[in-house]
Amino acid sequence: MSLSLIILAAGRGTRMVSDLPKVLHEVADLPLVGHAMAAGAALRPERCVVVTGHGADRVASCVQALNPEVRLAHQAEQKGTAHAVAQAGAALDGFSGDAIVLYGDTPFIRPETLQAMQARRRTGADVVVLGFEAAEPGRYGRLIVEDGSLTRIVEAKDATEAELAVRLCNSGVICADWATMRALIDRVGNDNASKEYYLTDIIGLAASDGLHCVVEQCDEAETMGINSRAELARAEATFQAAARTQAMAEGATLTAPDTVFLSHDTRLGHDVTIEPHVVLGPGVTVADGARLRAFSHLEGCEVGSGAVVGPYARVRPGTRVGAGARIGNFVETKSANLGKGAKINHLSYIGDAEIGADANIGAGTITCNYDGVFKHRTEVGAGAFIGTNTALVAPVAVGAGAMTAAGSVITADVPDGALGIARAQQVNKPGLARRLREKLLALKAKLAANDNISSDG
Ligand code: UD1
Ligand code: MG
Repeated sequence: MSLSLIILAAGRGTRMVSDLPKVLHEVADLPLVGHAMAAGAALRPERCVVVTGHGADRVASCVQALNPEVRLAHQAEQKGTAHAVAQAGAALDGFSGDAIVLYGDTPFIRPETLQAMQARRRTGADVVVLGFEAAEPGRYGRLIVEDGSLTRIVEAKDATEAELAVRLCNSGVICADWATMRALIDRVGNDNASKEYYLTDIIGLAASDGLHCVVEQCDEAETMGINSRAELARAEATFQAAARTQAMAEGATLTAPDTVFLSHDTRLGHDVTIEPHVVLGPGVTVADGARLRAFSHLEGCEVGSGAVVGPYARVRPGTRVGAGARIGNFVETKSANLGKGAKINHLSYIGDAEIGADANIGAGTITCNYDGVFKHRTEVGAGAFIGTNTALVAPVAVGAGAMTAAGSVITADVPDGALGIARAQQVNKPGLARRLREKLLALKAKLAANDNISSDG
């Protein structure tokens, strides 16, 4: 059965108090709407339509960057969830099959849950609504089930006392044949407390047509919607707790798991060790047996097997750390490719660089990669030794097995096996230090004597 997703993302999100549209706020470095898209993508839908409204341009460019095949629909005025789904009509022209409606502000729905809804469709349900037992049903729509069938959904604002006592609530996720859903939506009115076109009203209409509507149940945690910064922080904490647990279950050691932050796309091999207070931004892959030492920050990088990064390292996008290589304390790298066994152990900036296997980059080495307008590359050959406090003024290449003298400012290529020295020649002046010190001490004594005379007087 072919499937399309409709993701509702038109709402303003007033309680975020933000210029950024609500669905673009991030959990684990991925916008909320991206989480909904990812859950749906696992079902390999034929089409995915995102309904935009508030901040439409920004939402549109974000979702298209995440998936260029996403189709966009626009809801100029937010007249309710049924009206929002109806806006997806043009984008679903010519599609036949099931549609699943998701909310862009609800990041934790699991693909398995959506698959369970699809399974209910296959076993004869016409409309499947995802429900949950709410600890505090509050403002949620109530699912009214009679004889095992869902007969209607009542919004809290329109509910009677008896209906408000129902704890089985609507998550908002709904699955049905698209043509059926579309036809039902056309019959929905707005004669209710909010004067909105409720998607939930299609259930009552479907049931009175004799269609079989059912509830698929999930944990309340999955249906958590984000409406405020506090809820966003709670969602982040929830994500991190689950990601840490999963990382450990898959064979990573986290010495102090609560202090480690992972991203939505972090990939860890087995026997990876992550020490306390490590932050992994988006796009980090760590191979088997690597160690991320305390207080390091990594993003957009690959760490090879058995490599050691940190403590106190900053590994920026485009860095590839070869197998067994080392990046030590107070080292920053960006767009740098470190060969197998290369070492940058202390106090360096290595950007836009190719560092050969087993090269040793001395403390305080800086690649001068930026001339104020353009970025330039530095190449260091295999087994090269870069002396302490070398400035590598790019574009420049140091050959295989070559060396640079400590304190050099290297502006020209150093051939393979050569030693590049680029600093003033040392000159020793015999006895000059002693004579200078004597002169200074004599001056100090004279000044002190003058002081005494003036204070005596
Ligand atoms: C909705 C459901 C309610 C359910 C609850 C779960 C309806 C009528 N009610 O209520 O049964 O328990 O979600 O959280 O469906 N949106 C649009 N365009 C609109 C209106 C909404 O895109 O015109 C989007 C919002 O941005 C949001 C989602 O749809 O992502 C839900 O809308 P919201 O106003 O939060 O609905 P609730 O009142 O919470
Ligand atoms: Mg809501």
